[in-house]
Amino acid sequence: MANSCRKLIFNIYIVFYCSAVIMPQICICSQFTSSPIDQFNKDPKAFPVATNGEMFPWHELRLPTVVIPLHYDLLIHPNLTSLDFVASEKIEVLVRDATQFIILHSKDLEILNASLQSEEDVRYKKPGENLTVLSYPAHQQIALLVPEKLRAHLRYSVAIDFQAKLADGFEGFYKSTYRTLGGETRTIAVTDFEPTEARMAFPCFDEPLFKANFSIKIRRESRHIALSNMPKVKTIELEGGLLEDHFETTVRMSTYLVAYIVCDFTSVSGTASSGVKVSIYASPDKWSQTHYALEASLKLLDFYENYFDIHYPLPKLDLVAIPDFASGAMENWGLITYRETSLLFDPKTSSTSDKLWVTEVIAHELAHQWFGNLVTMEWWNDIWLKEGFATYMELISLNITYPELQFDDSFSNTCFEVIKRDSLNSSHPISNEAKTATQINEMFDAVSYNKGACILNMLKDFLSEETFRKGIIHYLKKFTYRNAKNDDLWHSLSNNCLEGDSTSGGFCYSDSRKTSNTLAFLRENVELKEMMATWTLQKGIPLVVVKREGRSLRLQQERFLSGVFKEDPEWGTLQERYLWHIPVTYSTSSSQAIHRHILKLKTDTVDLSEKTDWVKFNVDSNGYYIVHYEGQGWDELITLLNQNHTLLRPKDRLGLIHDAFQLVSAGRLTLDKALDLTRYLQHETSIPALLKGLEYLELFYRMVERRNISDVTENLKHYLLQYFKPVIDTQSWLDEGSVWDRMLRSTVLKLACYLNHAPCIQKATELFSQWMESSGKLNIPTDVLTIVYSVGAQTTAGWNYLLEQYELSLSGAEKNKILYALSTSKHQEKLMKLIELGMEGKVIKTQDLATLLFTTARNPKGQQLAWNFVKENWTHLLKKFELGSFPIRMIISGTTSHFSSKDELQEVELFFESLKTQGSHLDIFQIILETISKNIKWLEKNLPTLRKWLLTSI
Ligand code: BES
Ligand code: ZN
Repeated sequence: MANSCRKLIFNIYIVFYCSAVIMPQICICSQFTSSPIDQFNKDPKAFPVATNGEMFPWHELRLPTVVIPLHYDLLIHPNLTSLDFVASEKIEVLVRDATQFIILHSKDLEILNASLQSEEDVRYKKPGENLTVLSYPAHQQIALLVPEKLRAHLRYSVAIDFQAKLADGFEGFYKSTYRTLGGETRTIAVTDFEPTEARMAFPCFDEPLFKANFSIKIRRESRHIALSNMPKVKTIELEGGLLEDHFETTVRMSTYLVAYIVCDFTSVSGTASSGVKVSIYASPDKWSQTHYALEASLKLLDFYENYFDIHYPLPKLDLVAIPDFASGAMENWGLITYRETSLLFDPKTSSTSDKLWVTEVIAHELAHQWFGNLVTMEWWNDIWLKEGFATYMELISLNITYPELQFDDSFSNTCFEVIKRDSLNSSHPISNEAKTATQINEMFDAVSYNKGACILNMLKDFLSEETFRKGIIHYLKKFTYRNAKNDDLWHSLSNNCLEGDSTSGGFCYSDSRKTSNTLAFLRENVELKEMMATWTLQKGIPLVVVKREGRSLRLQQERFLSGVFKEDPEWGTLQERYLWHIPVTYSTSSSQAIHRHILKLKTDTVDLSEKTDWVKFNVDSNGYYIVHYEGQGWDELITLLNQNHTLLRPKDRLGLIHDAFQLVSAGRLTLDKALDLTRYLQHETSIPALLKGLEYLELFYRMVERRNISDVTENLKHYLLQYFKPVIDTQSWLDEGSVWDRMLRSTVLKLACYLNHAPCIQKATELFSQWMESSGKLNIPTDVLTIVYSVGAQTTAGWNYLLEQYELSLSGAEKNKILYALSTSKHQEKLMKLIELGMEGKVIKTQDLATLLFTTARNPKGQQLAWNFVKENWTHLLKKFELGSFPIRMIISGTTSHFSSKDELQEVELFFESLKTQGSHLDIFQIILETISKNIKWLEKNLPTLRKWLLTSI
């Protein structure tokens, strides 16, 4: 079960909280486990064999805590011509228990020499006592053997010289290239360490608990600049014209946050209110796309410093757009790295959703400077403590700094996205055991990010924003420069009293006058830790079943399972021992008030004070649960939506649409009832709700289209075009209106053109021809750009022209749109050409291969091609991306999870079996198999209903 890894460690904590300045030794050690006895001497047979045939003195994946690092001195000299680097380091360590060896991480590094020295141990006073180095690559560890046992409580300095090639992929210290406007290819060197790749750049204690200070020096040629976490203090000129930059020593931090870059980028800079210098770096020709990011990061830095009441502790913050980047962005302290499309904004080609994404990623990575960097999880099993928080803070910060982006209305989708996954049996708890590098990588998923953020949002709604904020400030201040675990957070949230607050039941009530009595009562009677354990240590999402019985509401909770019906034999077993403490909310027809109740038992009853026509649970969709209304409940709500939908809040309407279709997948609501609920959408004024309804209808369309179920495909197309005609026909082809107006335009026109709606095709074709005639100079409104390119890509001339423009474009936003359009071609030889270009990695960069395979597989003409390609080229793909990494997971699920037939399921099963025998095993295999089984079941059960419903609706 969850957290067993943490429980096994038997942490012994020094109970009192001490300041790192007053008692550094005690504080540094306080977060480590008690030191194990010298196992090496106890049972030498239990240990593995090092590369030289000798016994390697450590057999665990986690490092021993006998020796801990205090400070690293790093000197790195990358050569961007020979594409390698030489380096040396001095690590100051504290020995906590006498030992004969030091174990640390190192991966693919050639260790040239290692020596030891100490000011505190007379035996090691003279410099350069050479050490024996043993290497155990299976655990990415090296052992430094000392001639005489190191003594407890003394400090030593370990010096290591090493060298390596700049890595080929996207991890460690790797090379990245870009093309200039003049057609020249240039190389830069950049780091990306999270979670376990700092060890590819320098030997280190590469676990988040081993925090230390880092003093970094970088050698470079004069045509380059060097950047690192801290500002440069000085540059020294070396013989032969080389330059050596010295950076200020960092604050105490984990290895995965160390970063450095050698490049020739240019920047724009500004100063935050607190005096912190913020700069945005990009390759020289992309300089003009950096301004939006500067404005956003300055605003957001001001916001966070103020919101957390904690200064950003470094003098500068750089945000750098890297041409080759595996994920979206990485929060290295003071030197955040981004994929170009996550940072750069080009007014001519970046759409509204591109702007939302850039702002969101900046908000996310800046939040990490506190959640993750300042306070770090003890181990990777709890990455939600940073990823969930950073995702939650996107919502809080953007609501205040960018209200015009209406981000608040997108947040429900963050939760809906993970519910799909969390309602499968193969989901996992938020806190989940992670030992190997693959397992650690797999933790970076929707459960950690989205579910983490959603349960925090639910808790905030329960405690009130003010109380919640005080609690997290308390947590951040208490664990500054240290590590924390779940219980530390719950403890801070329950004991968050700051000066001037009054207390009751462990909670602070500075805002008690604003709080309703019921809420205060509820909070006082809740054991926060116990409540939150039900959300973090238990997988899945609860279903609250509501039944109205006169003036009472009977509530029942169960585990919500999509694809498993109550009638199925396994249903009962899958329910066993699941119970949540659910802070439910509801509103009724008789008052605007938000009623609250904690559902801690399987069943419970609440009394309504008045007679009501309807009840709606989960107000504003703030809770992480699905609601089913038994008896007349759904009919009452459908009637209400049809009569006057504005009596329900917009997010409640959105939530109803979502829950209704989820309940169909669980066999609890018939499809025609859920479809009937969408009939009111013709009058819907809230765009997120309208888009949600449309999203489900489009999903069904794509499912039947892929399976060539032609009658339903035709009828559904007809229904969509007829039913949404008013909204399609009123769209302009201009970038105008609010963010949601613009999102609606993109979505609706994209669907209309996909369905071959003549006026849409005509307009897009017209714009595409004008664009080609202008040699790509014409500015097409950014929100319809993808649509215009996709329609244009359907002719050979258009497709070829787009590919030419792809090579020339300097805008990542535009390149993404073109690549998507190219992948919608109906010609398989063109699709194959794209995949080959993606594999080659020149015209189409390897970083974009996963998205390309995903979009190709979504194209009915490309689905088989993409899937066959993945099967046949799996080993090549694994050479490009780490097993368990986000791109690999995207490739495998993107090319399979839409399958909906038994034959396809069998094929995928066979493929996964063969991978397992080759030693590749991923959690996502089970998720995919369950998803396909769910799709099969959905079609079996609902296709006849859909067919019938359409016949009566068109
Ligand atoms: N810490 C992650 C980067 C990361 C991802 C490291 C996966 C190791 C494995 C970063 O903060 C992050 O979450 N990036 C997201 C973007 C964010 C806006 C959700 C990403 O890369 O997709
Ligand atoms: Zn993150």
